Amino acid sequence: MRAGNRKWVVIMVGLPARGKSYTARKVARYLRWLGYPTQVFNAGELRRATLGAGHRADFFDPSNRQNQRVLEGLARRTFDDLLEWLGREGRVGILDATNTTRERRDWLRERCREAGYEHFFIEVINDDARTIEDNVRANKLASPDYEGMGSEEAVRDFRARIALYERAYATVDDDEGSYVKVIDRHETMIVHRVDGWIPARVVGFLTNLQVTERPVLLTRHGESEFNASGKIGGDSALTARGRAFSRRLANFVDSRFGAGGIQVWTSTLLRTIQTSELLGRDRREWRSLDEIDAGICDGMTYAEIGESFPGEYEARTRDKLRYRYPRGESYLDVIQRLDRAIIELERQREPVLVIGHQAVLRALYAYFADVESERIPHLSIPLHTVIELTPRAYDCIEQRYALEP
Ligand code: F6P
Repeated sequence: MRAGNRKWVVIMVGLPARGKSYTARKVARYLRWLGYPTQVFNAGELRRATLGAGHRADFFDPSNRQNQRVLEGLARRTFDDLLEWLGREGRVGILDATNTTRERRDWLRERCREAGYEHFFIEVINDDARTIEDNVRANKLASPDYEGMGSEEAVRDFRARIALYERAYATVDDDEGSYVKVIDRHETMIVHRVDGWIPARVVGFLTNLQVTERPVLLTRHGESEFNASGKIGGDSALTARGRAFSRRLANFVDSRFGAGGIQVWTSTLLRTIQTSELLGRDRREWRSLDEIDAGICDGMTYAEIGESFPGEYEARTRDKLRYRYPRGESYLDVIQRLDRAIIELERQREPVLVIGHQAVLRALYAYFADVESERIPHLSIPLHTVIELTPRAYDCIEQRYALEP
């Protein structure tokens, strides 16, 4: 297999309620967005699907041979599913299970080696009692395992389950290969022998990920002269309608955030800068937020493109995601250049308002809402609408505000 096509198994490691699933899903969504088919395989889900839910702590006792055999069998089946999927269509398979013993990990490494896949570990370590408690209450009590049980009793039971796993837990050692250890909610990271493009993206992502919940607001600039005449690209100014939107936007932001902190990001194009002016707040101008480069079609209407370059027009209609304008960009190109903006967005602890453009916002939206690549170029991002996204541990809340002047 060529180095550029290597397939990866990411093995999660950590005690229950440390945030493994949260991290696994975030990484998967990011890699999928970058264009690498990635899927999470969760052993707990298979256990519940196979044996039914409702297992109490004593079920997980490492000294209970029979149950351990059952659990081991389920972990292996989860891994078989992962390998089968990687063989068929996947690029990165993430095994979301505790994998806290050396024996289990040695077995997994051996299977990866036999199958010809690379592997690296992401170990999530967190000993802060408060974080664990919050995690249990926020994510575990709703599990079908605890249906019909009082919350205090469920918390006690889950703590007992953790204690049983602690007995057999061995942290990943240097001789086990590449690993990333994410410690204390991303405060500290230890990176050991990580090598390769995909693992390097994952490390960069995890280094910047932080867990404060805050909204990201996306809006296109107000109507521009080019919008009014149906032309694409260019660097035209706002129309009177566009300026009226910028006033409404300023009022909206003031009433939502008052004098409080919200960052304002724009592209380097005039129409987004003008839209930000009445906000009266500092702004960051990002070249990577500039609209998709339409190359030789820049400044034309879609009808003109159809007449002058019918072949190009047709090719774009056929595959809008991959189609690259001659001397310009494709949606996939746009996604690649937005990687840094996404990582910066993940790093922020306060709300961010991004004033951007149609194609760029489709790509940013797709990251937060986990939209599959093929649908990205067709998402609806209308003018004069603010899309407020609040990413949470396992989903993303979306609210749209139409501010039509
Ligand atoms: O029409 C506004 C615009 O932002 C153009 O500048 C850009 O080429 C286009 O939208 C992107 O949308 P689509 O990919 O649907 O052509």
